[in-house]
Amino acid sequence: MNAYPSLYHIAKERFSCRAYAPTPVDQSEIAAVMDVVRLAPSACNRQPWFFIQADSTDEREAIVKSYPREWIKTAPEYIVACGLHDEAWHRASDGKDHTDVDVSIAVEHLCLAATALGLATCWVCNFDTELIRQAFRLPEGMEPIAIIPIGYPAEGVNVPAKTRKPLEDIFRKGKF
Ligand SMILES: Cc1cc2nc3c(=O)[nH]c(=O)nc-3n(C[C@H](O)[C@H](O)[C@H](O)COP(=O)(O)O)c2cc1C
Repeated sequence: MNAYPSLYHIAKERFSCRAYAPTPVDQSEIAAVMDVVRLAPSACNRQPWFFIQADSTDEREAIVKSYPREWIKTAPEYIVACGLHDEAWHRASDGKDHTDVDVSIAVEHLCLAATALGLATCWVCNFDTELIRQAFRLPEGMEPIAIIPIGYPAEGVNVPAKTRKPLEDIFRKGKF
């Protein structure tokens, strides 16, 4: 049964794109994507996030330096997803900070919304956070959590087959 065919389709079409076309992305598309990000749920509706679009050569160069892979240079746009730990909900029972959970939901909204518009993205977390903090002059308490390159996939890049655990390995009814 597929109750939500369009969401199912978008989830299947989203993939980690590591080669982008030089085609510019219309800024209205970035705005549309960010409007979907804004709708993401968060613990206690704290929305402990901030997103920064790279807007200059030095910012783009800092992103490439922070994640020195050739492919990332091909992306026409980058969004740095940041968490605001002081604004996040902390669970009463154990104090768990939910910043990462909330920012992750918002980032996936971004990736799915971009996919719906025919754009491609890739989560990037393996970057040098200090370089990003400095390049974007992030204020105290704002942690860069992920960099998301955005663009149209390069010619010949197609959605790869998904390598995923089978449902029975990740889902059960009742206790172990
Ligand atoms: C939290 C997170 C961090 C990731 N960091 C990186 C990264 O630093 N570099 C990279 O190339 N891919 C990164 N990825 C992409 C994953 O490798 C990718 O999502 C996974 O292999 C599944 O492939 P798919 O996204 O194409 O379905 C990251 C994904 C997530 C969710």
